[in-house]
Amino acid sequence: MTLCVSGLSAVRSGRTILHPTSLQIEPAARIGLVGASGSGKSTLGHALVDELRTQGRSVAHVPQSPDEALDPLRSMRFHWREAEMALGLNHDAARQQVLFNALRIGTGDLRKRPWGWSRGMQQRFVIAMALLGAPDLIVLDEPTSALDPVVAAQTMDLLDQFLADRDTAMVLITHDLGLAARRVSQLMVMEGGRIVETADTGAILNNPRTMAARALSAHRCWRASAC
Ligand SMILES: Nc1ncnc2c1ncn2[C@@H]1O[C@H](COP(=O)(O)OP(=O)(O)OP(=O)(O)O)[C@@H](O)[C@H]1O
Ligand SMILES: [Mg+2]
Repeated sequence: MTLCVSGLSAVRSGRTILHPTSLQIEPAARIGLVGASGSGKSTLGHALVDELRTQGRSVAHVPQSPDEALDPLRSMRFHWREAEMALGLNHDAARQQVLFNALRIGTGDLRKRPWGWSRGMQQRFVIAMALLGAPDLIVLDEPTSALDPVVAAQTMDLLDQFLADRDTAMVLITHDLGLAARRVSQLMVMEGGRIVETADTGAILNNPRTMAARALSAHRCWRASAC
């Protein structure tokens, strides 16, 4: 089913940081939300997640750093059980194994706390938690910017493979056009709290119409990026 939101907006400290925004997201869509720092990408991502959850849709959010999702005092097993309980799911070892295999974290020791795992494994664990409930949409906010390029590319490859034959839609928030170019079929460009350009990824990369899209493509050698 298509996900629809209309009139999303946000005001902070008396300033409109997200102007009324409407979106439609088809099942299995791969959308990149790009724009300069401060353009409103994370604000829109959070507003989108909040609104769709209010509508009763299953939506997962993956933050930039696993630190935002994992409590340093709790074991990885605790986090997994918490995620299951939050979704009203009973513990299912087989389902856990499928996700751990898909994200290549099966070797991780669940008795350990987050710092007992590498950053890359922590972030893949967070992505596995996000996929637990087979969400309609997964919103990833700069999911690999804290990882080295090789681990970042592997992480996105594993996510791509997992989502390949599923209906879960993906919104990938990034200021990295190189990342977006390889992972999404459609781009939405933000500037000043508005989506100023929406088009197929190739069209924006090869023929950006707005200043914001031109600035993004001009300021980076995105063709050379590993992930
Ligand atoms: N709680 C807040 N109070 C005041 N201003 C805020 C608040 N949260 C965000 N902003 C402002 O809103 C604007 C958009 O912020 P947002 O974090 O959505 O941008 P972004 O595109 O995600 O940036 P980045 O790429 O750096 O993550 C910024 O100018 C930011 O300073
Ligand atoms: Mg942000």
